[in-house]
Amino acid sequence: MQRLQCIACSNHFPIDEVRYTCDCGNLLSVERDTPLPERSLFDSRRANPRTQADQSGVWRFREALLDIDEASIVTHPEGATRLYERHGIWFKHEGENPTGSFKDRGMTVALTQAVRLGARAVACASTGNTSASLAAYAAQAGLQAIVFVPSGKISAGKLAQTLAYGARCLQVRGDFDTAMRLVREACDRLGIYLLNSINPFRIEGQKTIVWELLQDLSWNAPDWIVLPAGNLGNTSAFGKALREARTAGWIDRIPRLAAIQAAGANPFYRSFTEAFATRHRVTAETVASAIRIGDPVSYEKAVTAIRETRGLVAEVSDEELMAAKREIDRMGIGCEPASATTLAGVKKLRAAGIMREGERIVCVLTGNVLKDPDAIMRNVAEEQVVEIEPTIEAVERIVGK
Ligand code: F0G
Repeated sequence: MQRLQCIACSNHFPIDEVRYTCDCGNLLSVERDTPLPERSLFDSRRANPRTQADQSGVWRFREALLDIDEASIVTHPEGATRLYERHGIWFKHEGENPTGSFKDRGMTVALTQAVRLGARAVACASTGNTSASLAAYAAQAGLQAIVFVPSGKISAGKLAQTLAYGARCLQVRGDFDTAMRLVREACDRLGIYLLNSINPFRIEGQKTIVWELLQDLSWNAPDWIVLPAGNLGNTSAFGKALREARTAGWIDRIPRLAAIQAAGANPFYRSFTEAFATRHRVTAETVASAIRIGDPVSYEKAVTAIRETRGLVAEVSDEELMAAKREIDRMGIGCEPASATTLAGVKKLRAAGIMREGERIVCVLTGNVLKDPDAIMRNVAEEQVVEIEPTIEAVERIVGK
């Protein structure tokens, strides 16, 4: 049996009640009272997929996500992303999901729940990736999609992608945090189902990033898992995934989480430096538009995730994250700016002696390189792209004989 459990008080609610917070105002979490299956079940599905759900890197773990019959699952399928090793660091590339970001893992579960609840319309506030993912899954399920984005503040690629899948796009004059407050009010008032990561079913799906990477490593837990931190849904999901994996006996030790923020959008980092004594809110500004967030919704869950994993929060400058992005791109892997906070964070933490030589590190790359072409074009060296006359002499002048 599953229930919606308040993270702060003892209140809980039926799994099919439409609500995102407890009466006390705190966040809800999907909890169950039955133990999780043995990990060998997931390994056999991966080795020998028999259904679409088995092929999905999310629904492969279905008993640990949502009690639902397989026929009701809305799946692309998603997940099953690759883990790359480069120069002694592992990169789990969530940009290889169907819409190019990790959001698909949460969206497939939350959208499946939306259909089960009989929702007609779904909505989110977004810096672009959640909106693209929501739009794609809503299109598949035949639901109306409405997205709230900060006007002029999301990448052209993400906006175009969201529109392509058919969503209605409300460009809010304000930042992400303003759009977030507005969509919450709109959903309450208009009976629209909210699919931001405040929705606990999103968190359930995103747990599978961690489970799949553990599976990629034959369940040998790495020392560190490094991820970008914005609205803090993913940090929360990673913490829950590790707690559940440890309790179920899938792993015998818990990796440390390193959540990395952009210095211009660092409320979580500020709280971390004060041992989480205060919750900070900032006006956010960074080139990494995906994580330009000043008042993260999943703050409390993320604090628990950092504490339970003996984790930490770090910040990196825009210059550091763009330099790291160039490195990841030049490895032939590629990612969007927000994802590169991971490698920038590893460099910083190694230099500070906090991450040590020989430790196994997995960076989670959250979005595809093509999500933000403008960020790439602003960064290419002048000599890398040259317009020429259509003559062989012109070619020779540039590239020599
Ligand atoms: N990386 C990328 C590429 C993202 O799009 C986001 C969040 C994050 C990291 C941070 O994850 O919010 O769970 O801490 N993007 C959201 C969106 C806000 O609307 O697409 P988080």
